[in-house]
Amino acid sequence: MLLAHFALCLLPAAALAIGPSNNSLAWIPFDPTQFDGNAVLDSNGQVQLFWKNGADHSTFGIASQSTGYLALGFSETGAMTGADMAVAYIGDNGSFVFENRHATGFVTPQVSLDQTDNMRLKAGGQANGVTSFIFEKKNKANCLQDQADVANDSWQWFIYAFSDQNTFAQHAAGDMGKQYIKLGTGNTVSLNDARNVSNSKYLTVVQPEVALPTDETTYCYTLQKMPATNKSFLIGERPQPSSPLLHHLVLYACYGPADQYVDMLGKAPNCDWQNFSNPCTGFVTEWAPGMSARTFEEGFGKPFGTEFYEYAMLETHYNNPQGLAGQKASTNYTFLYTDQQVGTEIGTLTLGDMQVSGWFMNPGKPLVAHSTICTPECTERWPSEGITAVSVFHHMHYRGRNARVQIVRNGTEIAPLSSLHDFEYGYQYSKALNNIKLLPGDQLITTCEYNTLNDTAPVPGGQSSRDEMCFAWVDYYPLNNVLGCTQINPQLSDPSQPNETVAMCLQSSAQSPDIYASTSFTSSFQHLPVSGNNCTDNSFTALGGAAVVKTCPEKDICFSLNIPQQSTSSGPGDIFFQLSAPTTYSWVALAQGTMMSNANMFLMHSSASGKNVTLSPRMAPGHQMPVFNDAADITLLEGSGISNGIMTANVRCRNCTKWTTGEMSLQDSSTAWLYAHLQGQPVNSDDKTVPISKHDGEGGFQWDLSHATGGPDVNPFTSAGANVTSSSSAAGIQTNTRMAQAHGALASIAFVALFPTGAILVRLANFRELVWAHGGLQVFSYAIFATAGGLGIFIGNQDASLQEPHAIIGMILLGALFFMPLAGTIHHRLYQKLQGRTLWSYAHIFTGRIGVVLGMINGGLGLQLANTGRAYITVYSVFAGLMGAIYVSVMVFDEYKRVRTSSKPATASSSASAESNKLDGDVSEGSTGQ
Ligand SMILES: *[C@@H]1O[C@H](CO)[C@@H](O)[C@H](O)[C@H]1NC(C)=O
Ligand SMILES: *[C@@H]1O[C@H](CO)[C@@H](O)[C@H](O)[C@H]1NC(C)=O
Ligand SMILES: *[C@@H]1O[C@H](CO)[C@@H](O)[C@H](O)[C@H]1NC(C)=O
Ligand SMILES: *[C@@H]1O[C@H](CO)[C@@H](O)[C@H](O)[C@H]1NC(C)=O
Ligand SMILES: *[C@@H]1O[C@H](CO)[C@@H](O)[C@H](O)[C@H]1NC(C)=O
Ligand SMILES: *[C@@H]1O[C@H](CO)[C@@H](O)[C@H](O)[C@H]1NC(C)=O
Repeated sequence: MLLAHFALCLLPAAALAIGPSNNSLAWIPFDPTQFDGNAVLDSNGQVQLFWKNGADHSTFGIASQSTGYLALGFSETGAMTGADMAVAYIGDNGSFVFENRHATGFVTPQVSLDQTDNMRLKAGGQANGVTSFIFEKKNKANCLQDQADVANDSWQWFIYAFSDQNTFAQHAAGDMGKQYIKLGTGNTVSLNDARNVSNSKYLTVVQPEVALPTDETTYCYTLQKMPATNKSFLIGERPQPSSPLLHHLVLYACYGPADQYVDMLGKAPNCDWQNFSNPCTGFVTEWAPGMSARTFEEGFGKPFGTEFYEYAMLETHYNNPQGLAGQKASTNYTFLYTDQQVGTEIGTLTLGDMQVSGWFMNPGKPLVAHSTICTPECTERWPSEGITAVSVFHHMHYRGRNARVQIVRNGTEIAPLSSLHDFEYGYQYSKALNNIKLLPGDQLITTCEYNTLNDTAPVPGGQSSRDEMCFAWVDYYPLNNVLGCTQINPQLSDPSQPNETVAMCLQSSAQSPDIYASTSFTSSFQHLPVSGNNCTDNSFTALGGAAVVKTCPEKDICFSLNIPQQSTSSGPGDIFFQLSAPTTYSWVALAQGTMMSNANMFLMHSSASGKNVTLSPRMAPGHQMPVFNDAADITLLEGSGISNGIMTANVRCRNCTKWTTGEMSLQDSSTAWLYAHLQGQPVNSDDKTVPISKHDGEGGFQWDLSHATGGPDVNPFTSAGANVTSSSSAAGIQTNTRMAQAHGALASIAFVALFPTGAILVRLANFRELVWAHGGLQVFSYAIFATAGGLGIFIGNQDASLQEPHAIIGMILLGALFFMPLAGTIHHRLYQKLQGRTLWSYAHIFTGRIGVVLGMINGGLGLQLANTGRAYITVYSVFAGLMGAIYVSVMVFDEYKRVRTSSKPATASSSASAESNKLDGDVSEGSTGQ
C-alpha cells in the first residue's frame, strides 16, 4: 500500500525531472540535473531544451542529435518575426561559434549589435553526432534590436532550427518548429495543449458543408443546441479547421434568442451574412490561424446550460481572395465538457472595437494605432473582490503589428494586462497570463497597431480579412455577467445618431447593451513607465521616449537624428533629422556618405518669405556641383522655420537607407555623415533647384545609430520627451576642416617642394657634404610628410575614408619612405666599397623616384577627395606639374648621362671624374674619400 503510494508520487516527479519524453537523456552531453526544467522541442525527442530560471539571468541548455548549426529563439508568437535568437555552429576555422541574432521577419536572422550582454555562452560543442550548448540570457533584455524578455514567470514561445550543415542559413523545411513552454512554476489556468481529462464528455459543434461563393469574404452562421443540462462546463477545445480558406471560428453564447433564430436549428448554415444580424452576444471562444487545442487546468471550466445559455452560434469566416470557384467547406469544433461542478467558473470578456465597421485608418503609415476604452462605470459591475485574468486572445487581420491592454487604476497606469508585439496573422494564440488581478473601477485601454504602408486609400474596419479588426478576448474568473466593455460612436452605425463617443457595457443579464456618457474618454491619467518589455513600450508612447543624437560640428551649426524603433525592424523605415544654423549662413547641408561625390545630401536655405526654410535634396555625381535629387522622399515637418536668427529644418526621410550611389543600414553602429556650409547672403528662394555658390567649409563625422534608435514614428523634434544624447564622436570634429587644410599643406610642401629638391640636389650639386645635405633634407621632408600623414589618418578614421585610394597610397608612401635612410646608408657604404650600384642602390633610388611622383599625384587625389574648390586644384596642378616636370627632366637627363659615361671605357676607378661623381651622387664622397 505504502509502496504503491510512493510509486504514484514518484511518477509525476520523475516525469518533471527528465521531461515528458520517453527517450533516455543519456545522449545529452551536459549534466541535465543542473537545470530545473526540461522539454522536448521536436516530435522525435531529438531536440531537448533545459532551463533554470534566475533573478536577472536564466540559463538555457539545448542539445540536438544533429551535426550542424543549432538555433534557439525567444519569440513573442511562435513566429520568426521579432525573435531573439541564440545560434551556434562550427565556424570556418573549426572553432565553436555562438551568436546572438535577431529575425526581422521570415528571413535569415541578422547578427545582433550586442554580442556580450544579452546572451553569454557558457559551454558548447559538437561531438558524437550531437550539437549542444548552454548559455545565459538576461531576463529583461536591453532595448536593442528585437532583444526579447524571457517570460520566466509564465509561458514562453520558443522556436528552434537545426541542420547537419554548419553554414548558417535559413533552415531547411522540417528541421524547425515552435513550442509554447511554461518556464515558471506559477499557476496558469489555460494550457495551449490538447490534454485528456478523465470523465469528460465530447461535444462537436458542426457547420455542415456549404458551397462557398467566389466572393472574397463569406461568413456562415449555424445555430447549435448545447447538451441539455442545468449547468455543465466546457473544459477543453479541439478545433478542426479543415478548409484552407477558413479565417476564423467563433462560438457565441445566445442568451434567450428570439424564435426566428431558434428556427435556424437543424437548418443549413446561413451564409447571407450581409443581411444577417447575429443575436448571440456572449463570446465563448475562437479559433484563428496558428491556434492549437486548449485545455483548462483541472478545477476550471466555462459554464453552459439552462442557467446560462442553451444555444450557441458558430460563426465561420472564409476568406477567398483568389475567388476560387467550386470550394466546399464544413467545420467541426469539438469541445470537452463535464457535468461535474468545477471549483472555479471562467468567463470571457470582450474588449476592443465591437463596432466592427464604420471606422478608418490612415494609409501609408508604418504604425497606426486604434484604441478603445473600457470605462470604470462598466468594470464597477464586477464583484467587489475583482476578477483574475488567465489568458488573452488578441485578434487583428493582416496589417496587425502590436496589441496591448493597459490598465489605469485610480488615475494611474499600472503594469499592462498584456502587451504583444510582432503580431503575425498566421501565428495567433491564446496568450497565457500569470493570473492578473483586475479591480472594479479599473479603466482598460485596448490598442491595436497596424502597418498601412501598403495602402493608398483609408483602411476600413470590417469583417473582411482585407479590412481590419481589433479585439482582445480575456478569459477570467470568477464568471460574472459583464460580457463586453468598450466605446462606440452611434453615428458610425446610424447616420441619424449623434457623432460622439459613448461607453458601452454589455451584460448577459440585460436585453440590450447599456450605453452612456463617460468622463473617462477625456480624463487624463498619470502614465507610468509600464513593466514588461520597456523596449516595445517606448514605441507605444505617443510622445517622448524618442532617442535623438545631436552633433554640433561647428559651434553654431548642429545636426540631430532619430530613428524610430520600428524602422530598424521593418522595411526601409523612416528617419528623422534636424539641421540648425544661424541666418549668417547662406546655406548649410547635411549628407549621408563618406564623400560628397557619393553622398545623399540635404541642403537648407531660407525660403522666399524669409520666414521659413527650403530643404533641397541634392546629389553631386562625379565632382560637379550638387544638383536637385527628385528621388528623395523627404518632408519638411512642424517646427521648421526661421526664428531668432536661427534656421531650423525638421525633416522626415522615407528612403534614406538607399540612394543611387550609396546606402546606410539603420542598424549600423558607425555611419559616416558629411556637412558643408557657406556664409553670406540669404538665398531666399522656395526653388529646390536654385543654383548655389560653393561651400566655404565642410567636414565629416560619425553617428552610432544605436544611440539614435528609439521612440515612435513621429516628429521627435517637437515632442518634449525626446531623449537627446550628444554624440560622443562630435568632439574634435569642428577642427576637421582646419586639420584637412594642414594635412594638405604639409604633404604638398613635402612632395612638391622638399623631396624633389633633395633628389635634384644630389644629382646636380657637387660639394663635400652633399650626402649629408641630401640625407638631412630628406629626413626633414619625411618628418613633415609623417606629420601630414598622421593628420590624414586621423581625418580618415573620422570620416571613414581610409579605404579611399588617396589614403591607401598615402599610407604605402609613409611606410616605404620610412626605410629610405637605411637603404640610402647601405647603398652609400656599398658604393664606396664596390664603386658601383648594388641592389640597395636601385631600391633607394627608384623607391625615391616612384615615391616623389606618386606623392605629387596623390596630392591631386587628396584635393578631389576633400572636394575642395577648383581654384585649389588649379594652383596645386600648376605647382606640382612644374616641379614634377623639372624633377623628371633632371632624373632622365641624369640616367642618360650615366648610361653614356658607363659605356665609355673606364678610366682609373680611383680617379673618377667630377662628372661621374654627379652621375651617381653618392660617388662624390667616394672619390673625395671623406
Ligand atoms: C465532423 O464530424 C462528423 C461527425 O460528427 C463527421 O462525420 C465529419 O466527417 C466531421 N467533419 C470534419 C470536417 O471533420
Ligand atoms: C506589403 O506588401 C509586400 C509585398 O506584397 C508584402 O511582402 C508585405 O508583407 C506587405 N506588408 C503588409 C504590412 O501587409
Ligand atoms: C483610489 O484612491 C482613493 C483615494 O486616493 C482610495 O481611497 C481608493 O481606495 C483607491 N482605489 C483603489 C481601487 O485603489
Ligand atoms: C465626428 O467628430 C469628429 C471629432 O469631433 C470629427 O473629426 C468628425 O469629422 C465628425 N464626423 C462627422 C461625420 O461629422
Ligand atoms: C522600464 O524602464 C523604467 C525607466 O527606465 C524602469 O524604472 C522600469 O523598472 C523598467 N521596467 C522594467 C520591467 O524593466
Ligand atoms: C515651415 O514649413 C513647414 C512645412 O510646411 C511647416 O510645418 C512649418 O510650420 C513652417 N514654419 C513656419 C514658421 O511657418
